[in-house]
Amino acid sequence: AVTRTPFIAGNWKMNLDHLQAIAFVQKLHWTLKDAKHGDDSVEVGVFPPFTDLRTVQTLLDADKIPFALGAQDLSTKDSGAYTGEISGAFLSKLTCKYVIIGHSERREYHDETDEVVAAKVQAALRHGLVPVICVGETAEDLEKFGASAVPVGQLEVALAGVPAGADIVVAYEPVWAIGSGQAATPDQAQEVCAKLRDVIADKLGPDAAAATRVLYGGSVKAANIASFMREPDVDGALVGGASLVVDEFSAIVRFQK
Ligand code: G3P
Repeated sequence: AVTRTPFIAGNWKMNLDHLQAIAFVQKLHWTLKDAKHGDDSVEVGVFPPFTDLRTVQTLLDADKIPFALGAQDLSTKDSGAYTGEISGAFLSKLTCKYVIIGHSERREYHDETDEVVAAKVQAALRHGLVPVICVGETAEDLEKFGASAVPVGQLEVALAGVPAGADIVVAYEPVWAIGSGQAATPDQAQEVCAKLRDVIADKLGPDAAAATRVLYGGSVKAANIASFMREPDVDGALVGGASLVVDEFSAIVRFQK
C-alpha cells in the first residue's frame, strides 16, 4: 500500500513581514528540534507572502531547516508585460516546492474562477511546482447543495489537462470553517476528502489517487488536529490563523495519530 507522508502546511496569508518571518521561522524550528521534524514522519511547509520568500529561503538554507517552502499564489503567465504578477519561474528559482492555488480568499476577493485556477495549476506544473489546489463550499452552497458538490466540481475543472503522473496536493477548505473557529467535524472532512480522492482517481487514475495528499483546512488547531488525522482520507492540514502562533503550530506538527 502507498503511504502518504502527512503534510502540515502553514498559510501565513498577509501576515509577517520579512523581519518578523526570520524570528518566526527560527523559533518554530527551535520548538520542533526534538520532534520528528525533518524525518519522513511529517512534512512541514511554510507559505509566506511573496516579499518574504527570499529571506525565508536564505534562512532555511543557511540553518538547514527542513521546512518546505511555498508561495500563496502565482501568475497564469510565465513572463512579460503583466505588472504586479509573479511568475512560477521566479518561485522555483527561490526553491519553492509548493504554491497554493485557488484559495477561497483569491476566489472571493480577486474573482478567481475555476478556469483561472485551472490555468494556474498548469502554470505551476510548467515550472516544476507542486500546486496545493484549494476547494471548498460556502455556507450558502452547503445549505443548497450539501458539502461535496461544489468542491468536487471545482476540483474536476482544476484537474482538467493535468497529466496522470503530476505531483499535486489537494486542500479541502470549507469557506464557512475558515477563520471562524468553527471547524468541520472529522466526519464531514473525511466524507468530502474521500470524494475528492474519487475525483483524483477518475481524472488521474488510481495510483495518483493513492499517492496524492488531501488536506483539510478551516480552524485547525492543536486541540483538533488529531481528530482529523485519524480519518483515512485526511493526510494533513492547511492551517491559517494557528500557523502564526509558534507554540500552536508546533503542537499541530507534533500531532498524535
Ligand atoms: O489556508 C488556510 C486557511 O484558509 C484556514 O484558515 O485560520 O481557519 O486556519 P484558518
